[in-house]
Amino acid sequence: MLEVKNVGVVLGGRSILRDINFRVDEGSFTGLIGPNGAGKTTLLRVILGLIRPTRGEVVVGGHQVRRGINSVGYVPQKIRLDADVPLRGRDLIGLGIDGDRWGMPIPNRTRRARVDRILEQVGAQEFADVPIGRLSGGQQQRLLIGHALVAEPQLLLLDEPLSNLDIKSVHEVVRLVAQMVGEQGISALLVSHDMNPLLGVMDQVIYVANGRALMGSVDEVIQPDVLSRLYGYDVEVLRTQGRILVVSGNDQPHHDDIPGPGDYIGGMSR
Ligand SMILES: Nc1ncnc2c1ncn2[C@@H]1O[C@H](COP(=O)(O)OP(=O)(O)OP(=O)(O)O)[C@@H](O)[C@H]1O
Ligand SMILES: [Mg+2]
Repeated sequence: MLEVKNVGVVLGGRSILRDINFRVDEGSFTGLIGPNGAGKTTLLRVILGLIRPTRGEVVVGGHQVRRGINSVGYVPQKIRLDADVPLRGRDLIGLGIDGDRWGMPIPNRTRRARVDRILEQVGAQEFADVPIGRLSGGQQQRLLIGHALVAEPQLLLLDEPLSNLDIKSVHEVVRLVAQMVGEQGISALLVSHDMNPLLGVMDQVIYVANGRALMGSVDEVIQPDVLSRLYGYDVEVLRTQGRILVVSGNDQPHHDDIPGPGDYIGGMSR
């Protein structure tokens, strides 16, 4: 479904990503985990064709990515709408349905039916007619996922859809994405700095740190020696009550961009 091969990205003269390699299979759930500034959003933008990699290539569904291909759906990071924006959820979904691929207009009835189907898919019927700005974060997130589904993508990229949500909404959004993966065979790549809500549902994890990435199962990747090599300094992995916490090791000097002993660096909520 998605192959990222030897990708390197330099932005503003700085090396942001180096030698990134991974693949995402059809109908799989992948968590893209890493601390702030690791390059997660940059990686998504490369997959979308919005940033051209300096090296390497990205292949989606057998084709090298180009800008504007619609087999990839995108839920961007941090959209917060004002309470007085007059747009309703129903309108947001409808925006994506402008015409078919030959530019023929779609009859209103067909259009309404498609909007309703997507609203149902993401469980947003109940609040589809409320101005989006008045909805809760979790409700907005459902609509944004619905908006990304309009183009019937095979691959869905979600950038931190869980941040700013309460625990209940986090689990609802995770369940929604897992359901789409399970029932519709969509592949999801979900960015989160906290891997814990994804532990039960993700098929694989891609851990990004220090401009590099590792892919594998949680048990393969979330290991102190593996992550220490990735970070380039000692980190520890604490497992407690079914949760995982990645912290810096004890013999680390404190430094602005290197967390001090015991500092949280990834794996749990901010
Ligand atoms: N256009 C750009 N020019 C120069 N540097 C950039 C550009 N875009 C991003 N960066 C830098 O690339 C690094 C990675 O940024 P990115 O937004 O991909 O991180 P992230 O992992 O998504 O972080 P967060 O968890 O905070 O969202 C950061 O240091 C950022 O400052
Ligand atoms: Mg980001």
